[in-house]
Amino acid sequence: MRLVLLGLPGAGKGTQGERLAEKYSIPHISTGSLIRSVINSGLKLGEIVNAYIAKGNLIPDEYMMEILRQRVLADDCRNGWILDGFPRTVQQAKHLDEMLKRDSTVLDRAFDIRISAEEAVSRITNRRVCRSCGQIYSIEHSPEKVKGICDKCNGPLYQRPDDNVEVATHRIQVYMEQTHPVVHYYAQTGRLTSINGEQGIDGVFADLQVAVAELYAKKAGEEL
Ligand code: AP5
Repeated sequence: MRLVLLGLPGAGKGTQGERLAEKYSIPHISTGSLIRSVINSGLKLGEIVNAYIAKGNLIPDEYMMEILRQRVLADDCRNGWILDGFPRTVQQAKHLDEMLKRDSTVLDRAFDIRISAEEAVSRITNRRVCRSCGQIYSIEHSPEKVKGICDKCNGPLYQRPDDNVEVATHRIQVYMEQTHPVVHYYAQTGRLTSINGEQGIDGVFADLQVAVAELYAKKAGEEL
């Protein structure tokens, strides 16, 4: 199953991507996390991409496509993936379609997790992330049990440098200008499902599960 999660920064793509990955045993690939790993690796490429991410701007396609291509070539992606944070421009969406065509496969569905800009800023500024395992917390909705310590791995929690009001507001603007057209791109090609992201985390996950179950049922029918 090949799925794309779209939605404003803070919509819950990472939260739902992790849950879907666990439920359906396919990898969750967050391009934001991939970029942050490159930045932490100390490579020259890390320095280059950090200049973009720190300001809330998109990484140029030439770097982004290479980072993504290397990840989806990994063995664990043979049966599919859940992309979170990619594609972020119509150009990237077209690149992805071409890449899939070369592999004689297709994108099964793009999900647009919809929340308001006000909710996005509130969620982003309340987010904390585990530096070791990447587990996502919200100081308002899903706090850790022991302050500053990850429930899963005991790693330290931190606030992403781009999770302040100023950069978050810019990221939302960038999303509306550059990523929102991707929603139309998938809608026009009949590959989009909208999900109400302003429910609780379990409610969003329930809606996604219903939609993914339908996709599996359709695929099974086609294979008969
Ligand atoms: P990235 O890391 O992808 O950030 P983003 O898209 O801005 O998305 P977020 O990670 O902020 O939010 P999310 O939707 O995953 O929400 P989450 O589940 O964490 O990208 C960062 C940067 O990398 C970009 O600005 C860009 O520079 C660069 N980049 C990445 N991909 C790129 C690409 N393809 N091309 C070029 N550049 C690229 O949830 C947020 C919070 O809300 C959490 O605290 C969570 O607990 C809480 N929460 C989640 N769901 C709910 C709910 N239903 N109710 C209440 N709280 C909730």
